[in-house]
Amino acid sequence: MSDKLYSHPDGSVFYRKLKHKRPMISHAHGVYIYDKSGKRYLDGSGGPLAISVGHGRAEVVEAMARQAQAAAFVHPVTFTAAVVEEYAAALAEVVPVPRARSFFLSSGSEVVEGALKLARQVQMARGEAGRYMVICRSLSYHGTTLGAMSVSGRTSLRTPYMGMLQNMPHIRHPYPYRFDPRGENLADRLEETILAYGPENVAGFIAEPISGSSLGAAAPPPDYWPRIREICDQYGVLLIIDEVLTGMGRTGRWWGIDHWQVQPDILVSSKGIAGGYVPFGAIVTAHEKVQDIADALGDFNHGGTFSHHAVGAAAALAVLRIIQQEGLVENAARLGPVLKQELRQAFADHPYVGDIRGRGLFWALEFVQDRETKEPFPASLGLAWRIRQRALEKGLIVYWSQGCADGQNGDLILLGPPLIITEEQLAELVALLREAVVEVLAEVEGEVRLGQAV
Ligand SMILES: Cc1ncc(COP(=O)(O)O)c(C=O)c1O
Repeated sequence: MSDKLYSHPDGSVFYRKLKHKRPMISHAHGVYIYDKSGKRYLDGSGGPLAISVGHGRAEVVEAMARQAQAAAFVHPVTFTAAVVEEYAAALAEVVPVPRARSFFLSSGSEVVEGALKLARQVQMARGEAGRYMVICRSLSYHGTTLGAMSVSGRTSLRTPYMGMLQNMPHIRHPYPYRFDPRGENLADRLEETILAYGPENVAGFIAEPISGSSLGAAAPPPDYWPRIREICDQYGVLLIIDEVLTGMGRTGRWWGIDHWQVQPDILVSSKGIAGGYVPFGAIVTAHEKVQDIADALGDFNHGGTFSHHAVGAAAALAVLRIIQQEGLVENAARLGPVLKQELRQAFADHPYVGDIRGRGLFWALEFVQDRETKEPFPASLGLAWRIRQRALEKGLIVYWSQGCADGQNGDLILLGPPLIITEEQLAELVALLREAVVEVLAEVEGEVRLGQAV
């Protein structure tokens, strides 16, 4: 075993951030991660919001080991494992989809890809073979793969691949902090777009129920999702809800869309559903839609070597049982107002903190140069990344995002700690974050004054 403390920028592995060295992990337990130098980090965001039941849970590890020992892999075309069926049945009890059936894959991007294909096949099965377009939203994120990226709206992530992406219609996203929704019902943009492209061409509409990494916990107004549901029903368009980030209790309800009590036609989730123990994701839809495909087309034309993975299902089932037994959805709901209060106390008076928003254990801070005009800091300052780095130095992990204001500028820090976090640990999180934010913003203020920002 190597005793190196950091990854090497010229080492045998290459990572996304090519010039950046990262600490070598030693172990992780509960809400803390420890590196090889012995430094402890409070996991304030579960990386990109992937940790639900905490690190190092013996119940999950044992369930995975038991399944791996019994049969780690069986090809889903030939066999299945009881745990896969058991997990799907348990999931069906907590999703807002009637008589739910699930198809399992290995990541958020994969389940989004699969959902796009499922929407297309449901339409084909209904005799609507012309419907292939999936309408999406202008600032959104649904994954790395080319289909998922075609329905995402992050300019900086999409630009290098433009020629390779499908041209799907993007409509304006709800963002109460920047767009005043009064006088303009953003849901009606969906209807206008369906009519502009022709309902006979539109298979579905995909969106995050509460914006994830792009707009940082921005939630639409109360009438948005019910109106979207109405429009989808009127024009035979399938509503695909992406709960990859917001699912499994993160926002204080089982699913983000539960805050609006709207039923999607297809729900996808990943990240927290297997708690980070194994890459795993689910596509969920109603039995009747699967049956339509079976009757009209025979098979669901999609699959992968590692779909319906037995060890993945074992981990996800153990995670689901912990969430139920320990009341972690309720814990997230209970801690939401506590975290809100802590964040308000720490940041509400800071001149460069424009907005503090969130639900349950998913919160974001948006930074602006001017609270009146909401002008963002220039992207060249890399503000959110610098705060994230400073927090890491102080032993706190937070997630960052840039581009919320206009696709390029606009800095966000996102919080999404494990759902097992305590009030004391939340106070520790906010205190460390405050130190990092105050220090970096003081530096940035100096740079802006000296005209160093481009
Ligand atoms: C809402 C949403 N959908 C899809 C994805 C893609 O998931 P993955 O990174 O597991 O492929 C993400 C990842 O951040 C996400 O936030």
